[in-house]
Amino acid sequence: MNLNTGYNYIPLCFFIGVAHRGVVIFLFEVYVPGTSVIGLQWGDEAKGKIVDLLTERHNVVVRYQGGANAGHTVVFGGKKYKLSLVPSGIFHPTVQCVIAGGVVIDPVQLLSEIDRLAIEGIVIGDKLFISDRAHVIFPWHKLEDRVYDEIGGGEAIGTTMRGIGPCYRDKVGRSQAIRLGELFRDDFKSRVETITESKNKILKAYGCTELPDANQIFDDYTAAANRLKPYCIDTTAYLLNEIDKDTPILFEGAQGALLDVDHGTFPYVTSSNSSGVGIAAGSGVPARFISKMIGVIKAYTTRVGGGPMPTEQDNEVGNKIRENGNEYGTVTKRPRRCGWFDAVAARYTARLSGVDAVAITLLDVLSGIGELKICVAYKIDGHETTDFPSECEKLRRAEPVYITIPGWNEDISQVTDFNKLPNAAKMYVKKIAELLKHPVEIVSVGADRKQTMYV
Ligand code: GDP
Ligand code: IMO
Ligand code: MG
Repeated sequence: MNLNTGYNYIPLCFFIGVAHRGVVIFLFEVYVPGTSVIGLQWGDEAKGKIVDLLTERHNVVVRYQGGANAGHTVVFGGKKYKLSLVPSGIFHPTVQCVIAGGVVIDPVQLLSEIDRLAIEGIVIGDKLFISDRAHVIFPWHKLEDRVYDEIGGGEAIGTTMRGIGPCYRDKVGRSQAIRLGELFRDDFKSRVETITESKNKILKAYGCTELPDANQIFDDYTAAANRLKPYCIDTTAYLLNEIDKDTPILFEGAQGALLDVDHGTFPYVTSSNSSGVGIAAGSGVPARFISKMIGVIKAYTTRVGGGPMPTEQDNEVGNKIRENGNEYGTVTKRPRRCGWFDAVAARYTARLSGVDAVAITLLDVLSGIGELKICVAYKIDGHETTDFPSECEKLRRAEPVYITIPGWNEDISQVTDFNKLPNAAKMYVKKIAELLKHPVEIVSVGADRKQTMYV
C-alpha cells in the first residue's frame, strides 16, 4: 500500500539560540510525531477508516473523548467492523490501543464490543489499556438522557441515548460521579446505593416507572469491572512515558468539530470537546506533541439529530445522497440528514482544530448526482459572511450562498490514482482544498482500505 503522505516520523528538533549576557544558550525541544484525526463536520466523516489506514505508521492509537455515541467503521478483507469504544487501531496486531480518561465508558457495553470483536476474529489480548480516570456510565444516565432530551423545550437534541451527556454532567458536578478505578474500591457498593436512591427520586419525578436497582447495578458492574481489570491502568502516565520514548502516537477523535460542546452548534452538540481542542484534556498529552492534525470531511454534509444545518437538502438530492452513501446512523440506524458541502463550516472547524491537511471521504457518493453545489458564504439577516456564527439561532437563519460545479457520472469507486479521476471530480476536490486553504492529502472513494488515494 502506498502511504507516502509525508507524515513526520523522526522527531523534529528545534534549537533556539538565546543570547544571555553574551553567552548563547540553546533551548532544545523535541516534538514527538503525534498525529491526530478529527472530524470537521457533524460526525460520521469516516474517521474510523482514516485512523485504521494511518495506524500502520503509529505504535499507539488513542480514543480520548466521547463514548459509545461514536460508531466508527473499518472495512477490509471483505469484512465490515463497527467500533464504538475500542480504538480503530485494534486491527493491527502490534499496535497498543488506549481508551484515555476523557472517554465515558459503559463497562457492560464495552465488554459486549470486545466479545463481538472476538467472535469476528479480532482478539484484544493485551492490546488495550483503559484509563482508571474514565468516568462510568450507569443505567440512570441512559434514563436521564431520555427524560432530559424530551423535556428540554424547543427542538430535541436527538441524542444517541447512550447516557453520554448525563455522565459528563455528573463528571463536572463531581458528587455523583464514579470513575472506572473506583469500581474496584470497597466503598463502591455504598456509593451505588446512595447515588441510586438520589437519582431514582428525580427519575420518578420525571415519570420514569422502571427505576434502576442498586443491587443489580452493583452485581453487573462488579462482574464487568473484574473482567476489565487487566486493561485498567493510569493511561496518562503510560502516554507520557511513550512520549518520552518518542513513540509515534495516533489520536482518534470521535464525533465532529461542529458537535464540540464549546465551539460547535450549541446546544445541538455532544457533551465533550470533539474538535482538536479536546485532545490534550481528554488524553493528558500536551497539545504541542501533536505534530500533524488531519481533518476528515465528507465530500458533502450529513447530520444526525436536531439543530440547524444550512445546506440540508430535504429533497430528491438529499435522498439520492442518502441512498448512494447508505447514510443511516452506525449507532442508532437513524437516517442521516444530507446536504451540500458547507465550506464555511468546514473552514471554521479546520482553523479551530489547527488542521494541517484534509482527508476527503465518500467522494464516490457524488457520482451521478448531477451538478454539485458548495456553500461558500452565508447570508444572515441580509449580510453576506464567511464567518461561522457563534449563535445557533443565527445559523438557523443562514441562507447558503452556493457556487455550482459540474458533476460526473462515472463510477469512481475503483480508481486508485488521483490523476485518473474524472476531471470534474478532480476539480471538486481542488475547489474544496482552495476554499479550506489546506492541502487534501487523502481521497476516499469507498469503504474498503484499498479504496483510497494519496494526493
Ligand atoms: P466515523 O464515525 O467518522 O468513523 O464514520 P462512520 O463509520 O459512522 O460512517 C462512515 C460510513 O461510510 C461507514 O459506513 C464507512 O464504511 C463508509 N465509508 C467510509 N469511507 C467511504 C467512502 O469513501 N465511500 C463510501 N461510499 N463509503 C465510505
Ligand atoms: P461518530 O464518532 C454523528 C450526535 C447525536 C446528537 C448529538 C448529541 O460516529 O462520528 P450525544 O449522544 O452525544 O449526547 O448526542 O450528537 N452525535 C453524533 N453524530 N456521529 C457521531 O459520532 C455522534 N455522536 C453524537 O446524533 O445529535
Ligand atoms: Mg460514526
